[in-house]
Amino acid sequence: MNGPQQIDTNAPIGIFDSGIGGLTVLKAIAHSLPQENFIYFGDTARVPYGDKSQSTILRYSLENAMFLMDLGVKLLVIACNTAAAYSSAKVRQFFKIPIVDVIEAGVAQALQVTTHQRIAILATRATVRSEVYQQALRVAMPGAFITAISCPLFVPLVEEQLLGHEATRLLVKEYLAPLKELNIDTVLLGCTHYPLLAHLIQEELGQGVIIVDSATACAKQVKLLLQQHCSIVATGNSNSNHRFYVSDDPYKFQQQAERFLDWKIATVERADSGVHH
Ligand code: DGL
Repeated sequence: MNGPQQIDTNAPIGIFDSGIGGLTVLKAIAHSLPQENFIYFGDTARVPYGDKSQSTILRYSLENAMFLMDLGVKLLVIACNTAAAYSSAKVRQFFKIPIVDVIEAGVAQALQVTTHQRIAILATRATVRSEVYQQALRVAMPGAFITAISCPLFVPLVEEQLLGHEATRLLVKEYLAPLKELNIDTVLLGCTHYPLLAHLIQEELGQGVIIVDSATACAKQVKLLLQQHCSIVATGNSNSNHRFYVSDDPYKFQQQAERFLDWKIATVERADSGVHH
């Protein structure tokens, strides 16, 4: 194994997602670790992953991880919940650098905050079907009540910027209706896009419900991991460098990304992780 000692401390942190959604994760990490350099890869040519099969999601995820590894990242973040659900174990097996995935981070956070061990997971169809969130929570809290709901229309609504639209409000109501009688105390947002709907979800379920956003949870884990391997914390260059690669139209990504991140991006390059090798 390549120990962290051999890694360049100012090497970038690599983050991949199926598209733009993982920018919620990048934003949270960049906020808590402003001195770090990042490379973000969004697989915009093959998004969405949320309705694809297990083998396809695994293949895409390994290709994305390989693409970032080849660029010399010191730590890898699997920002896509669907990718993490199907590839995390394999990615950890193949690549010997520290790896953080949104699912592990979200689960750890939910375990910390739940008051009555009644947790609902909201995620894509593939993530719900994988049962990865449900199993991780059940193993950690055998007596807990765990339920999961897939909300496939949330991703396009967020991408279309319909965050305050009546249609979005209605769909939030519709998807969350089964939770109303279940006395859920914690809702885990198990999809990159859902943090942008957190306000509507909170409104629908009431202020008493705790919302765990796996993007923020992931940022906490990255910080913790870097501190544990303090030899790979960037040594503070004042101009941290963020590089962006996508597998489809860079221009479209740049427009959406600047909106998601609320900051200007200098360039977005096109790269195809699938034909990289
Ligand atoms: N990034 C995906 C996730 O977090 C959502 C978008 C997709 O379906 O690819 O599950």
